[in-house]
Amino acid sequence: MSNKSSAPARGLFIAFEGGDGAGKSTQVAMAQQWLEARGSQVVTTREPGGTQISEALRSLVLEHGHGEIDSRTEALIYSAARAAHVQQLIAPALNAGSHVICDRFVDSSLAYQGMGRALGFDAVAQINDFATDGLKPDVTIILDISAADGRARRVAAGGGVEAADRLEAEPDDFHERIRNAFLELAAGDPERYLVVDATLSVAEIHAAITTYLAGLL
Ligand code: TMP
Repeated sequence: MSNKSSAPARGLFIAFEGGDGAGKSTQVAMAQQWLEARGSQVVTTREPGGTQISEALRSLVLEHGHGEIDSRTEALIYSAARAAHVQQLIAPALNAGSHVICDRFVDSSLAYQGMGRALGFDAVAQINDFATDGLKPDVTIILDISAADGRARRVAAGGGVEAADRLEAEPDDFHERIRNAFLELAAGDPERYLVVDATLSVAEIHAAITTYLAGLL
């Protein structure tokens, strides 16, 4: 009798992070196509979101019009959305052997709520350890952009001040804290992070990402 398990090899969990306007969505879609062209099963998803309850929480936390949302409540809503996302979608997909590409994950909470809202990395990390049951990305790709460049990109893409969601509407110094937080997280664990200059061309960024992923696969 063989002891070999028939379970598929666990997929790679890839997170994309970066400030608003960094061009993540474009790169996420290109990375998915690249992986699929190599014959991989890929599940692409986003945070907050990815499941019915998480998308409902996304609307709650991003849309204007729910009155004041204090920083702790905001952090808990993001982590609640993440708990459902991990349980219902990310962990099952990885266990079934798919690669999972996630547009934002815990590092966004560490950056936006931990540093942007000044709750601190430790408190935000704690609630997220609970939410994710300790699940971490195998690799995190950070598209690095300054607050001014990110704002200019959002405006050029038709997202002016009126179109900005609750977080995008924050001033440049908030977005500069976010950028520094991502860079600090990457510097603390260089093995698990790829930082790419988001002002490079779309093709150059994609090439940097695929070269890196090819080395992992
Ligand atoms: P998106 O525009 O990239 O879809 O992200 C939605 C917004 O939510 C963005 O401004 C970043 C913010 N955000 C947080 O503040 N904390 C989080 O944990 C996540 C996932 C997103």
